[in-house]
Amino acid sequence: MSTPETFIASPAELTLEEKASLCLGSDFWHTTPVPRLGIPAITLSDGPHGLRRQPEEGDHVGISGSLAATCFPTASALGSSFDPDLVRRIGGALGDEARAQDVQVVLGPGINIKRSPLCGRNFEYFSEDPLVSGVLGTALVEGIQSRGVGASVKHFAANNQETDRLRVSADVDERTLREIYLPGFERVVRQARPWTVMCAYNKLNGTYASEHIWLLTHLLRGEWGFDGLVMSDWGAVHDRVAAVAAGLDLEMPPKLGVSDAQIVAAVRSGDLDEELLEQAATRVLQLVEHTQPRAAGGAKPADGRPAFDADAHHALARAAAAECAVLLKNENDLLPLQPASGDTIGVIGEFARTPRYQGAGSSQVNPTRVDVALDELRAAISDNVEVAFAAGFRIGTTEHDEALADQALALAARADVVVVFLGLPASDESEGFDRAHIDLPANQTALLGRLADANPRIAVVLANGSAVRLSTWEHHARAVLECWLSGQAAGGATVDLLLGAANPCGRLAETLPIRLEDTPAYLNFPGEAGHVRYGEGIFVGYRGYDALDRAVSYPFGHGLSYTRFAYADLDARVTGDVEDGDLAVNVTCRITNTGPRPGKELAQLYVGDPAASVARPPRELKAFAKIDLAPGESETVTFRLDARDLSYWSTSASDWVLEPGEFTIAVGASSRDLRLTATMDIAAPPLRVTLDGMATLGEWLAHPTGGALLRDAVGTDATGRPRGILGNDELIAVIGNFPISTLAAFPGLGLDHATVDDLLQRISAQPH
Ligand code: BGC
Repeated sequence: MSTPETFIASPAELTLEEKASLCLGSDFWHTTPVPRLGIPAITLSDGPHGLRRQPEEGDHVGISGSLAATCFPTASALGSSFDPDLVRRIGGALGDEARAQDVQVVLGPGINIKRSPLCGRNFEYFSEDPLVSGVLGTALVEGIQSRGVGASVKHFAANNQETDRLRVSADVDERTLREIYLPGFERVVRQARPWTVMCAYNKLNGTYASEHIWLLTHLLRGEWGFDGLVMSDWGAVHDRVAAVAAGLDLEMPPKLGVSDAQIVAAVRSGDLDEELLEQAATRVLQLVEHTQPRAAGGAKPADGRPAFDADAHHALARAAAAECAVLLKNENDLLPLQPASGDTIGVIGEFARTPRYQGAGSSQVNPTRVDVALDELRAAISDNVEVAFAAGFRIGTTEHDEALADQALALAARADVVVVFLGLPASDESEGFDRAHIDLPANQTALLGRLADANPRIAVVLANGSAVRLSTWEHHARAVLECWLSGQAAGGATVDLLLGAANPCGRLAETLPIRLEDTPAYLNFPGEAGHVRYGEGIFVGYRGYDALDRAVSYPFGHGLSYTRFAYADLDARVTGDVEDGDLAVNVTCRITNTGPRPGKELAQLYVGDPAASVARPPRELKAFAKIDLAPGESETVTFRLDARDLSYWSTSASDWVLEPGEFTIAVGASSRDLRLTATMDIAAPPLRVTLDGMATLGEWLAHPTGGALLRDAVGTDATGRPRGILGNDELIAVIGNFPISTLAAFPGLGLDHATVDDLLQRISAQPH
């Protein structure tokens, strides 16, 4: 958010009390107006996949109603689209609806990493991978803000579970933060320039995110150049004065009469620098200024509000939902359905009639309408094909219902093909709590087993917001279509996919594990006694499964199509130089649609550094491209990587470090379906180790200058053989990892204190 040329009012005109009042809302959804100076209040409203504008005094968990708005696919689904253009269009539509409902800031996107499939809010997050979260988060922010409406990127940072979310400390090492949990935010902040960021509820390494000066000021503003406003999550502020000092500009909802009084008292007592308060108030003014109609690029129409086109948005929601579904398996091309005249399609499962298409909590939208898959199928299918339905089970119970099951079995037995709609009940996944397991309800999977005995031609359609276990039941289905929570038009989109009017092109943005116990965060989730230790470090999601060479049900990036794609002609060229800051790797490959239908392929580029001196995942996604190809058509895909894409975060250098040597580049259709690989040598400066008394003998010997100085200082005997330890490789292997100053006390090594002191002087005299 760039600084507007003119403020509605200058911060200098504000009294101390007015400045303090601006740093908290005036009620649940509004900033504080200052009528004396003509400063209006602005309205903030959830959320990421549809507006939840509450007409009156609100609540933040969706208990009170909200105005009707389009419910677009949730992030669980949009993540699988891997399609920033689509997400940008949805952002634009959200922006239009926000303007129509007089909302100035949309509280989203949520771009937290899916650390464990158990997180109750995973349906609101895009991926286990920071590149995917960052690219799609950027697109959503760009879309929303293109309409003159602000976005709020949330929840900053390391908010990866619901358990104890208002108090827990996420204990995350610096490298893991830099490589996994922060890059998504960094990308959105640098590229989309969001007008606001929302801090998380939790603590990060012992300090509340709302009071974390490194997070909110040094990193966000200092390193990444964020120039917008930081607001709290709803109720995340515990010490308002410490939060102002850390860079938290706006408290929501306001602790009226408390926080403002604390701020005023702290300024008066000298505990809070008034300049910091003025900064925060100025940012609120800037945001208010930015959201005024003239800043949005046009005056409001006479009636005050542009209307939005509900039909067009519903159509967009339907097209989007179709782009998000992931065809996990499709044996013998069971899908798309091609019913012959006189056939019966057996539709089984209550979800076909009672769709589940969004999650619960603050993101819950009151939809403008809802597509029902069963109705859509009946409307789309020709008259001489019967679409018969049996509920099979009730949603929200795991109890078996024999009468419903019997009807379903009878239908399966007479149907030519069976489509079974399974899913998670709303009570299984929501904001506010984490899941206890990743299984579908037992009554659903038991029914599926019995249906398969009656009719093997079964396609399963799934509705769930986060990963479910498939390994116990998927052998009963020939095809599985994962539709996630795909918004109000999910029913129509599902039918488009089932009948082949749309070709599946979603890919998994999260790994589907065989068992919960296989998930990399399993032993460290959700923590205890107020702490959750991110013990798996950087090995989140596929990074962990691949490092452990662990089998999965379906890998990250997987997804089938009704057509096929061939990959050829991988070319990777390095240009520029690390030291000049212009290193680039240009990668191209050719992809051809070799199948019978038009379709979209997601080409994924993974990078590995097998010879790294630090632990690195075998491969990491560094670029992707979704391309649309007609049958027989080819396209050359181009990717461009830079030095950062090859680097790891070095805690000793406090910077990204690219190690010289061999890297692997792999392009493929999933993280475990790598079609083309190449290796390339990257020249880069060698790692610099500070040679002091605590550097080990091994580090001295490996250093080009230090090694020569050391060998010279220790000297050789008459035969030319190095003296002391330097002539004894076995001993070097055993105590070569001792600091050189420690070895000085060991007799007979040729390294006494005088020699070491001399060595230290000589190395410090070397040019750096
Ligand atoms: C959620 C946020 C949401 C806010 C306002 C909080 O409980 O964590 O994501 O934007 O409420 O509804």
